[in-house]
Amino acid sequence: MRKSDFGDDFVWGVSTAAFQIEGAHDQDGKGASIWDEFSKKKGKIRGKHHAREACDFYNRYEEDLRLMKSMHIPNFRFSVSWPRILPIGTGAVNQLGIEYYNRIIDTCLQLDITPWITLYHWDLPQALEDKGGWTNRAIIGWFEYFVQVCVQHFGDRVKHWMILNEPVAFTGAGYFFGKHAPGKWGLKYFLPAVHHATLCMSKGGRLVKKLLPDALVGTTFSHSVMEPIALKTRHINALKRADAIMNRLFLEPVLGMGYPMDEVKALRNLKKYILPGDEAEMAFDFDFIGLQTYTREYIQFSLLMPYVWANIVEPKKRGIEKTTAMDWEIYPPSIYMALKRLHSYPNMPPIIITENGAAFEDKIHDGQIHDEERMMYLREHIWEVLKAKQEGVNVGGYFVWTFTDNFEWAEGYHPRFGLVHVNFENQARIVKDSGKWYAEWLRGS
Ligand code: NOJ
Repeated sequence: MRKSDFGDDFVWGVSTAAFQIEGAHDQDGKGASIWDEFSKKKGKIRGKHHAREACDFYNRYEEDLRLMKSMHIPNFRFSVSWPRILPIGTGAVNQLGIEYYNRIIDTCLQLDITPWITLYHWDLPQALEDKGGWTNRAIIGWFEYFVQVCVQHFGDRVKHWMILNEPVAFTGAGYFFGKHAPGKWGLKYFLPAVHHATLCMSKGGRLVKKLLPDALVGTTFSHSVMEPIALKTRHINALKRADAIMNRLFLEPVLGMGYPMDEVKALRNLKKYILPGDEAEMAFDFDFIGLQTYTREYIQFSLLMPYVWANIVEPKKRGIEKTTAMDWEIYPPSIYMALKRLHSYPNMPPIIITENGAAFEDKIHDGQIHDEERMMYLREHIWEVLKAKQEGVNVGGYFVWTFTDNFEWAEGYHPRFGLVHVNFENQARIVKDSGKWYAEWLRGS
């Protein structure tokens, strides 16, 4: 396999998210996000970690971007922190926040790195959560204002935009299970959050396109490749329900197919929140769809999970010893399967892998990190992407999650996903062997 097998127009890069790397939680007028508040609560984040400093990217962006350049990485995906730009979510713009993202964009351009902006990667201003957050339909107007401010300030230099990052993850973990910020749980939060996120996604896409007709506008989805634990009807039906929630819930409305209400009865209650005209608004012709996939899941019927009646069977319980530090099975064909699945939808826009990568227990030996497993993981997944591409799947790019080790949400700093190791005591960086390998891959032909 060679890089040239992917063609010259295939985009390669790394992905990040503001809250996971920036730190500087209250610097220069930034407002609090739901993750700042959630991290203060007892028992929410493993090891009592928080992201007040994180990788201190806010203050170290220049060194980090130079390092990125030295690794030949041509595309950088990052998110804009909503409360850094609009401290209370609406109203007055924090000029220092705008200047910070201007510096990032300008430094990228000087270094010949293309900036890709994600508008929402989970750090909602706390002030908006106090008014109901994603459960309040007013979020559509709040979000459109934020989008407009970002496009107005950054649109002259940024051509690649993503509207939402993994909507099923932030609505599911944040408003159904309560494991992520804002820590709410139950259908009465989840369903309105889903519908409002769907509308924000399409309306946000439409707005960016209207303000910047030449921009390439996408949005990103997680995709879980699933197998039934056994070929029994109850497990197969459980899988269909899990699939409807995990993989179809946000994708199908965008493609003009509506919500997958037939599969999961509880989803029919979404109708309560759908107003006249919404259904037509939900569809939007994105320029690309970002696909984020890491592993495969085995699904079984379970009474423990209300509404879905399905559970994930952990890899260890099915005899898989070797997993990543997230306890995820390493199964490279899953990325090929996910690509094929998306490709099977009619009207599917071009796909870009906007995240793929792995966390492992890295060990430092003489100042080096020989993370053979991560290197293998990346190489094998990239190979599967090529296979899908050669079979006709319209996949146009691959972004590694992630550049540096960072704050992995409720898991704290324990899982290290980076190509670059971070010492969170003194902020020192070490390029791991996987990072050196990716650099060589990017430099090669
Ligand atoms: C999904 C999310 O977009 C990102 O924030 C997270 O860190 C990675 N995947 C790994 O779990």
